[in-house]
Amino acid sequence: MINLANPVIGVEEIDAVEAVLESGLLADGPEVRAFEREFADYCGAAHGVATSNGTTALHAALKALDIGAGDRVVTTPLSFVASANTIRLAGAEPVFADIDPDTYNLDPAATRAKVKAVDADAILAVHLYGLPAAMDALSEIAAEENVALIEDAAQAHGARYAGEPVGTFGDAAAFSFYPTKNMTTGEGGMVLTDHEAVADQAASFINHGRTGDDSYAHTRVGHNFRLTSLAAAIGRVQLDRLPEWVARRRENARRLTDGLAAVDGIETPHEPANRTHAYHQYTIRTPERDRLREQLTDRGVDTGVYYPTAIHQLAAYEGFDVSAPAAEAAAEEVVSLPVHPTLSDADLDRIVEATRRAVTHLRA
Ligand SMILES: Cc1ncc(COP(=O)(O)O)c(C=O)c1O
Repeated sequence: MINLANPVIGVEEIDAVEAVLESGLLADGPEVRAFEREFADYCGAAHGVATSNGTTALHAALKALDIGAGDRVVTTPLSFVASANTIRLAGAEPVFADIDPDTYNLDPAATRAKVKAVDADAILAVHLYGLPAAMDALSEIAAEENVALIEDAAQAHGARYAGEPVGTFGDAAAFSFYPTKNMTTGEGGMVLTDHEAVADQAASFINHGRTGDDSYAHTRVGHNFRLTSLAAAIGRVQLDRLPEWVARRRENARRLTDGLAAVDGIETPHEPANRTHAYHQYTIRTPERDRLREQLTDRGVDTGVYYPTAIHQLAAYEGFDVSAPAAEAAAEEVVSLPVHPTLSDADLDRIVEATRRAVTHLRA
């Protein structure tokens, strides 16, 4: 079976973890500070605050921007549920705007309309599959409507918009380092921001509301959402490899797209001119999605569906009044093929051939 994801952990990660174990500094510490600095530098952000996972990074970003009870945050219904759950966990209300069916990301016109209609306080944009959302248009809306802009970059390490890394367009951004992501720390996350006050608030919120260097000066209520030094050590090694891995993902995507161009009824991923897709997922679209998946499994190709249900259609979101036909249609038709950096050219050719044969079989 050609797996959908294949986290790469090498001898350097093992050595780095061993060094932390030997140091005895296992929880927060200098290793975490170094990872924060290096990841923020890689993205061109002024500040990084490492957290226990992407969910806690989003939660901390929202709290650091003072989003809470009574606030409304416009977001996409086509994402992992964490994007909307964290808005609710912060005490605010998610308001769903529909997606652009070509990019699977927030449609700027729908976003503007929702921001105005509900007098929103923030926009939470997701760079789904590793393709940056329309950051120029969304930044313009945020500025004109005077609302905060948060990037959910959990899937988009290494993606760029107009040449600039994602994570630097909003007031704050959140990344995930879950094992299937473009780089991993096991579990882990990071808040990025250019605003010192937002970074301070996030750092305090993930550390029981502690302020300053006094261990027992708690000026607000917070959580323990801290990253461990063990995880940070893995992350520092992975970050070194990220550019090479993203380049490989992009080459793999190009090979898949070239091969699938001749296959009828398959829509390959779009990459608008000024966006650099990081191909966390290589997502195609077909009305015969479920049957195609079965065929691909039989032919030894693992697939995934992100996501089979739009967030507002989940049981936990019953009662949310949402019109998002483009997101609902996409949820029925999208399927992701393997694109990770350890695939060989022969693997990629096998994926193309299996897809071609599967489609031929379904048409027969
Ligand atoms: C778009 C998106 N947002 C948030 C998250 C949450 O990250 P984590 O699983 O690290 O909590 C994920 C992870 O799957 C994600 O894909």
